[in-house]
Amino acid sequence: MLPNEFRCYLVTKDDNGNVAGQFTTRRLDELPEGEVLIRVAYSSLNYKDALAAKGHPGVNKVFPHIPGVDAAGTVAQSGVYEFVAGDPVIVTGFDMGANRWGGYAEYIRVPHDWIVPLPQDLNLPEAMVLGTAGFTAGLCIDALESHDVLPERGEIVVSGASGGVGSMAVAILAKLGYRVVAVTGKPSAHDYLRSLGAAEVVGRDALDDSSGKPLLSGRWAGGVDTVGGKMLASMIRATRHSGCIAACGMAGGTDLPLTVYPFILRAVALTGVDAAWCRLSLRHETWARLAGNWKLDCLDKMAQFIPFEDLPPKFDEILAGRITGRVAVTIGG
Ligand SMILES: NC(=O)c1ccc[n+]([C@@H]2O[C@H](COP(=O)([O-])OP(=O)(O)OC[C@H]3O[C@@H](n4cnc5c(N)ncnc54)[C@H](OP(=O)(O)O)[C@@H]3O)[C@@H](O)[C@H]2O)c1
Repeated sequence: MLPNEFRCYLVTKDDNGNVAGQFTTRRLDELPEGEVLIRVAYSSLNYKDALAAKGHPGVNKVFPHIPGVDAAGTVAQSGVYEFVAGDPVIVTGFDMGANRWGGYAEYIRVPHDWIVPLPQDLNLPEAMVLGTAGFTAGLCIDALESHDVLPERGEIVVSGASGGVGSMAVAILAKLGYRVVAVTGKPSAHDYLRSLGAAEVVGRDALDDSSGKPLLSGRWAGGVDTVGGKMLASMIRATRHSGCIAACGMAGGTDLPLTVYPFILRAVALTGVDAAWCRLSLRHETWARLAGNWKLDCLDKMAQFIPFEDLPPKFDEILAGRITGRVAVTIGG
């Protein structure tokens, strides 16, 4: 029996442009259209969720809005044969939690092809420890592999290493046998990053070269960048011939102060990663790998689980770069 109403975290914007968020209830029939209704057990906190919660126009322009780009739960009602009530499922990205109501709610309704059946070797809490962050890290690693950046090619640099995507990338790359150099602005995160498998942990200043030289001494076989700006430019300038940097983030800036020399003299590849609209076949393959040979033994130590009610203060923390690892949110449990 379905309830008439569900609890959610709703973000509103008044006529003066003031954005505010609060816990409230909405009617189930107000959920957006879609073939599958899902009872949300867990969600998670991503940088993008905090932007949505603050009304960032680059993420969401439609109010009232329910953020939450991630949800894991069970099917409550289905209009397609692929899913039946009770199936455990994951939904990440697309427009969910961006211009469409998302996972900070007891229920979501989505198109059936947005849903990934929960892989056999993953449970719902683990799926949300990974969430968009783990999935994005997986896509970055897939991009490196596609450019033949394999463990024997040399060191991989990961920026924003203590954050959600960064820490997942460090841990999975280390598990796969890469020598990982983790770059972090948090002195307190060095031990944590070593415990995830980083061979070396360096401060942001060590990477951020402001000499203006178009090319730096080539060190990296590849890299995963979650920061953007000067950090990404420095990583590209210090990448060796035929290396590859997978760029997915902008926690430190959106510009890219660079010349073309790394591309035309060293054949460095800069590859963009977008988890939200990732094609379906790669989406399913990547979740299968996250639950398979990429599955991390240390998942439980990579996240703090918080009750739904404790979510709002976390938005400022993640925007200020103060969170280490992942935050998973218990909604229905
Ligand atoms: N393209 C995609 O599909 C996709 C998917 C997921 C996330 N993202 C993006 O990836 C980035 C990371 O997301 P997340 O959820 O992992 O966020 P997060 O947990 O907040 O991690 C970001 C990390 O970046 C570092 N950082 C923060 N501010 C910085 C600054 N001003 N300069 C340099 N480093 C800074 C911090 O790590 P340290 O303290 O360790 O340096 C921080 O923990 C965000 O920009 C997000 O929008 C993109």
